[in-house]
Amino acid sequence: MRGNREPSILSDGGGRGDMRGQKSFAGGRRPTVILLLGAALVFSVLVVSIQSFFFTDKQRSDINREEINFLLDFQSRVQQCVANRGLGLTADIIDHCRLVLKFPEGTNSTWYNAQFKVFEPLEYHYDVCEAILLWEQYRNITTVLTREYLDVRPNGWLDYAAKRIAQLGAEKCYNHSLCEEHLNLILPSKPPFHPRQFRTCAVVGNSGDLLKTEFGQEIDEHDAVFRDNEAPVNEKYAKHVGLKRDFRLVVRGAARNMAAILNGSSDEVLIIKSVTHRDFNSMIESLPNPVYLFQGIVLRRGAKGTGMKSIELALSMCDIVDIYGFTVDPGYTEWTRYFSSPRKGHNPLQGRAYYQLLECLGVIRIHSPMRANRRQDWSDVPGRNFINLAQKAALSLKKIRAGQPIDVGPFTNCRVWGTASKGTTSPVSGSPHMSDLRKNSNYSKWELLPLESMRRESREHFAQIGGVSLYKMDGNKLDDLICVKHE
Ligand SMILES: *[C@@H]1O[C@H](CO)[C@@H](O)[C@H](O)[C@H]1NC(C)=O
Ligand SMILES: *[C@@H]1O[C@H](CO)[C@@H](O)[C@H](O)[C@H]1NC(C)=O
Ligand SMILES: *[C@@H]1O[C@H](CO)[C@@H](O)[C@H](O)[C@H]1NC(C)=O
Ligand SMILES: *[C@@H]1O[C@H](CO)[C@@H](O)[C@H](O)[C@H]1NC(C)=O
Ligand SMILES: *[C@@H]1O[C@H](CO)[C@@H](O)[C@H](O)[C@H]1NC(C)=O
Repeated sequence: MRGNREPSILSDGGGRGDMRGQKSFAGGRRPTVILLLGAALVFSVLVVSIQSFFFTDKQRSDINREEINFLLDFQSRVQQCVANRGLGLTADIIDHCRLVLKFPEGTNSTWYNAQFKVFEPLEYHYDVCEAILLWEQYRNITTVLTREYLDVRPNGWLDYAAKRIAQLGAEKCYNHSLCEEHLNLILPSKPPFHPRQFRTCAVVGNSGDLLKTEFGQEIDEHDAVFRDNEAPVNEKYAKHVGLKRDFRLVVRGAARNMAAILNGSSDEVLIIKSVTHRDFNSMIESLPNPVYLFQGIVLRRGAKGTGMKSIELALSMCDIVDIYGFTVDPGYTEWTRYFSSPRKGHNPLQGRAYYQLLECLGVIRIHSPMRANRRQDWSDVPGRNFINLAQKAALSLKKIRAGQPIDVGPFTNCRVWGTASKGTTSPVSGSPHMSDLRKNSNYSKWELLPLESMRRESREHFAQIGGVSLYKMDGNKLDDLICVKHE
């Protein structure tokens, strides 16, 4: 678990990082410090000499100053946005990248963090530059595991495929055909979904919050609706959560009840959240629904839970992501679900701060009881153009600091390139011995969708990146992408 933390998002200066820091900085460590300083010096000399290889120092420092000033402007916009929309949260700017979100004095931090044995802090530190680089990247990548990805990824079938199959345990896929058998049911040859495929998407969480409002119709007006696990969709809850169902992110625990939950909804696409498992295979065989596996295995980010993954999934195919039923308003004392009694959940303070940051970075739009009466006015959130420029500034700065050529194009993070050949096998998912039920499933609805029938924005994006599919290589790392060209 710990190895899966994403240090670049929650900077180690605060939040959970702080709690850990208290222990590790307790003793005096002079010799280590001197050694580190020495190493830093050697490193900077190295960086500077590499830098001058590409640009003159003057050019670089001009760009540096420009980007920093731009990002400082952006930070003020984010700060203003948090002040306007944060329901009491405030943002302190530390520098052009770093920002602290603070809960109002006197907030009751009753959430005990069992891992660090402290009450949750009322301040969270973020690196806005890293956050914007990560989340803007989702708009261009594919978040479903595919065959082309496994073929291109170094040791994809041997090491990586094994990580996505629960029954294998620690064994690798030395037997390729065995692993293929496990994944066959859920492995499309190329991405079934595309960036910008939908204009508006609703991601519906399971919070008991939903019963306090009647967002049902508003949710249903979206081009696609994302739900998770066992969330029921029926007349009983229709006015609160709507009836439209397109995507559902599921964990293993929910597999058992899927047949009943999906009854009458054979078009709804299931996305398995982290690993496939025997339980899933028998479920899949009994359902007509298309099923895929989420690509990415980060278990924790700025906020925990399935919600973050639903947002990642939605961003990889939608322009606008509206979230409903996430625990984001002040005043929570317990974790609730709209369809069942409360259960113990993760700390809402941490999530609430992070979701607010994401709203002010233009990633999501939050809908909740305390915001329900507001006009749908997003004018205090930085606009698309501003965000694109901030993303480019953050990227140039990162490149300058790393002494790399300043390339802010869509392929700058491609670490591994591969080519997917046309292939002679059927382009539609499913194992060769698919049941008749699954032979009539709507896999083809997504996988055989002709480019001409897609939204203009989606076609334009496709043209701009030459039809290349981008995938994250490592769940924890921001920079490394696997990029696949198509013949
Ligand atoms: C904080 O919340 C807990 C549990 O809800 C309650 O027992 C406690 O009295 C509260 N403290 C303050 C200062 O309000
Ligand atoms: C590999 O797996 C397949 C499918 O389960 C099995 O038929 C075959 O015997 C296995 N080969 C080896 C060498 O274990
Ligand atoms: C699905 O719903 C129909 C009626 O709406 C019912 O007859 C059937 O038993 C249900 N199937 C499952 C698996 O719940
Ligand atoms: C496939 O999709 C079409 C159109 O969306 C729908 O009418 C049909 O019922 C679906 N078939 C199955 C098996 O879900
Ligand atoms: C995403 O793709 C667009 C082209 O549609 C490109 O202009 C943009 O720079 C890309 N963004 C990222 C973060 O790679």
